[in-house]
Amino acid sequence: MSEVISTALEENRTFTPPTTHAASIPNMDAYHALCKRFADDFDSTWRDLANEHLEWRKPFTRTLNRENAPFFRWFEDGSLNLSENCLDRHVRAGLGERTAILWEGEAGEVRKISYAALLADVCRAANSMRQLGVEAGDRVVIYMPMIPEAAIAMLACTRIGAVHSVVFGAFSPQALRDRIEDAGAKLVVTADGGSRRGSIYPLKSNVDLALSEGCRSITHVLVVAHAGNKTETIAGRDIDWHQALRVQASTCEPLAVESEQPLFILYTSGSTGKPKGILHSTAGYLLWARLTMLWSFDFKPQQDVFWCTADIGWITGHTYTLYGPLCCGGTTLMYEGVPTYPDAGRVWKICEAHKVSILYTAPTAIRALKKAGDAWPEKYDLSSLRVLGTVGEPINPEAWIWYHQVIGKQRCPIVDTWWQTETGGHMIAPLPFATPTKPGSATFPLPGIDIAVVDKHGKTIRDGGGLLVIKQPWPSMLRGIWNDNQRYIDTYWRTFNNRYYFAGDGARIDREGYCWIMGRVDDVLNVSGHRLGTMEIESALASHTSVAEAAVVGRPDEIKGEAICAFVVLKRADSENLTLPLRAHVTQAIGAIAKPDDIHFVESLPKTRSGKIMRRLLRDIAAGREITQDISTLEDQAVIRQLQKQP
Ligand code: WTA
Repeated sequence: MSEVISTALEENRTFTPPTTHAASIPNMDAYHALCKRFADDFDSTWRDLANEHLEWRKPFTRTLNRENAPFFRWFEDGSLNLSENCLDRHVRAGLGERTAILWEGEAGEVRKISYAALLADVCRAANSMRQLGVEAGDRVVIYMPMIPEAAIAMLACTRIGAVHSVVFGAFSPQALRDRIEDAGAKLVVTADGGSRRGSIYPLKSNVDLALSEGCRSITHVLVVAHAGNKTETIAGRDIDWHQALRVQASTCEPLAVESEQPLFILYTSGSTGKPKGILHSTAGYLLWARLTMLWSFDFKPQQDVFWCTADIGWITGHTYTLYGPLCCGGTTLMYEGVPTYPDAGRVWKICEAHKVSILYTAPTAIRALKKAGDAWPEKYDLSSLRVLGTVGEPINPEAWIWYHQVIGKQRCPIVDTWWQTETGGHMIAPLPFATPTKPGSATFPLPGIDIAVVDKHGKTIRDGGGLLVIKQPWPSMLRGIWNDNQRYIDTYWRTFNNRYYFAGDGARIDREGYCWIMGRVDDVLNVSGHRLGTMEIESALASHTSVAEAAVVGRPDEIKGEAICAFVVLKRADSENLTLPLRAHVTQAIGAIAKPDDIHFVESLPKTRSGKIMRRLLRDIAAGREITQDISTLEDQAVIRQLQKQP
């Protein structure tokens, strides 16, 4: 763990929320009352919410089992089916004709899929998966573009109790292989390709490459024909999605699974080289997906069009493109392309065309759209918008103010939501029609969430920088790391002796109780809202034949939040410029999102006498800052002079 950033953000402007709405939590009194209910009776408040908001096949008898902490169990003995909660129950309630998924492709094509039609497709896909031998508990890897079939595949898994693991489509074949092998998946669902900036990127051929070595657990690959991209078909293994579904029945009895049945594994970066499979389970996750939709977005399923711009390959896409909106019975918008294609007006054009009322995106996108100029949003009618959300990284006050003024016309509350893959859903976020907001602060914890900022001994820090912890379990918390219980304990619980969940972020709570997230305190980078481990990139670099050693740090970037900066020591002083080959090598090992922005070739890396790379020093150099670290422990003082000579 490196140092905590202790520079306090000074931002004192406060924005009072509009109060005209009959919001699900309409004011701060209601918020405090709900918090008090949790404080007075934690378990029974969760019990009541779970009974009220989910449809159970068998009621649970125990709300929270702490006996084997930190392996908590929620809503034990209950059973339910997730797809039934997201689909059948709305169809039964007469909402079958309501649009569940509103999809727009990059070329502008639009598909509207009603709840009834989605249910039928999910059943067909579930039947098809079953026929291919997928059973409850089996893992299915989904490697797809942002198309409705990705959502259908995910929901189909939940229908039969299979565990999905979605791998972001921009990950390389090698990264895909690592994930397939770690998950021990039986089936891959993919597409022939996806559209991005007017061209087609490969998916199925990446799957072929991934499966060319190892991956023995895979028996079949279901391939959605989407992009008109010709790909090879391996007889006996590869099956055409549309053909397979066509012959299946449009009904499939939802399998009632236990509350704690694993729902999905989602790989995310940590501070070691190997990505970790974050494991979520069914009931608790779904409950929080639904409650946070209602609380932090004030989602009104009968009227809202909700657009979360995150790809389904990230947790934000799981919870807020898919499960949250559908569990509430509302309309979710899915867009396949990039937000600035064919021009910087695309996001606003989509908002106008589909009357988007809640927009949820990352600060990096807001900064890029802001930079493109106000003329773009001004060309479109944005009057349908009523709530604007942000996620993934700290939002700088300038971007916040722009979002509020230029996009929200000062009418729309901004909800800056702090959470993680591990938390399943929002943890700290304003309530749009209750919480007075300050630009750059995620404000207060949601009801039921118990957070604190502490020093490294676990002592609470008031009005100063410290480590963000969560003091009580919550229903949508990760249940572990797939196949690695020890790593789960070591990463999240050991720091504070199993008492608190350690989030890995630095934070400050100001005098008025507002929480300011200050970024990761471990070796995790946040590049354009994408989470990447420095060690992962380092080991990718070090696997190149010419590289002796590499260190990767982040440096501030105006648009991306953080840029990737690599310091590389070559085996022999090469005259050949290896910048491009090394970037290509990282792209191959992980994916283009992990490609270093800067590569500095150096003779050696600054290390302490005990051999630890002095990352803070490298961060200062990467950012062109004055060196703040005490370098007296630096083993070879000459290194510093060489590093400072770097451009
Ligand atoms: C960062 C994304 C500041 C944080 C949902 C966290 C944020 C990591 C915010 C998790 C926010 C997320 N303000 N920082 N509103 N939201 N983060 O797992 O460092 O991809 O630990 O989950 O993103 O990233 P992940």
